[in-house]
Amino acid sequence: MWVRNAWYVAGWSHEFAPGSIHARTLIDQPIALYRTADGGLVALEDRCCHRFAPLSLGRLEGDDLRCMYHGLKFAPDGRCIEIPGQKLIPQSACVRRYPVVMRGGWAWVWPGDAALADPAAIPSSLTLDDPGYRLKAGHLDYAAHYLLIDDNLLDLSHLSFAHEKTLGLDMPQWADNRPRMVDLERGLRVQRWIAGHTPRGFMRKKLGERVDVWNSYDFIFPGLFLQRTSFYPAGTAQQSGGGEPDQAPLFHRIDEQAVTPLSARASRYFYAAGARAGDIDPDRLDRLFAVTETAFGEDKALIEAQQKLIDLEPERRMLPTSLDAGPTRFRRLVDSLLASGGAPPLGVRSASP
Ligand code: FES
Ligand SMILES: [Fe+2]
Repeated sequence: MWVRNAWYVAGWSHEFAPGSIHARTLIDQPIALYRTADGGLVALEDRCCHRFAPLSLGRLEGDDLRCMYHGLKFAPDGRCIEIPGQKLIPQSACVRRYPVVMRGGWAWVWPGDAALADPAAIPSSLTLDDPGYRLKAGHLDYAAHYLLIDDNLLDLSHLSFAHEKTLGLDMPQWADNRPRMVDLERGLRVQRWIAGHTPRGFMRKKLGERVDVWNSYDFIFPGLFLQRTSFYPAGTAQQSGGGEPDQAPLFHRIDEQAVTPLSARASRYFYAAGARAGDIDPDRLDRLFAVTETAFGEDKALIEAQQKLIDLEPERRMLPTSLDAGPTRFRRLVDSLLASGGAPPLGVRSASP
């Protein structure tokens, strides 16, 4: 049911404040995370090997963690190093330690075979304090399977309808134009031009009456969405022959998101939005972010309601249309990752841009 051999975003790195034990669930596995004195992050199974009390209810003692039911103490590598009232510590007295890496603003956990965890497979993303950009971040919890959220991000035609009054405002082309897609090692690259867009408000003052918009994102298993939306003078789409532009944009919007499955009906959606530092001041960023969060509320309402209807009659088949190319292609990839235990299909290129 789950692809275990993959990197999952457990949270923003800044969520894991020193001095506390943070309980998280990833693909049905309870995990306790905490910082060591050197700032590193430790991820241990959140279940004491003695009588299964959660270690997240325990106590930090330096870099070690003590279970506060009967006092077994564990080192950051998961080994039990103290059993009250007993000198001999059996080798089996240990809890599982998960590989964990902080990169690109996120804490990534590998719930699968630790010997296969390669940090080089984590795609590059921005950090929230990157001086070249101004970004704001948040997260949202969904009562829905993560693949329904992935479907949503892989088919942006919904912007014209679900986000009619927010992100899709005045851009009906989202639903009309079909993006091109390229397979990546563990995902898809989705790109399109939206030519002849009429910006509104602040964007209109900044960019003029008409612009061409280049939208490009990589979508990588289990739900990493790395999007750049770049605004160009009208005519650039044609000059670029419909392909990727090679000049600097007038405005460059950033969206970086990660969908994390917690359980079959619970997912956490992490998001950051913003622009190049020179393109936006903090006040505009606040407004852009507020619209973005309103739009995410629109997605959540639809997707949670969709999940309820799916669960009412799980055997009912959906009607495929040409809008579904991205979700369909990605679900095929997920099936192949499930079948291979997480090994990517052969013959497709690596996800690094
Ligand atoms: S359950 Fe942890 S020490 Fe007993
Ligand atoms: Fe959406």
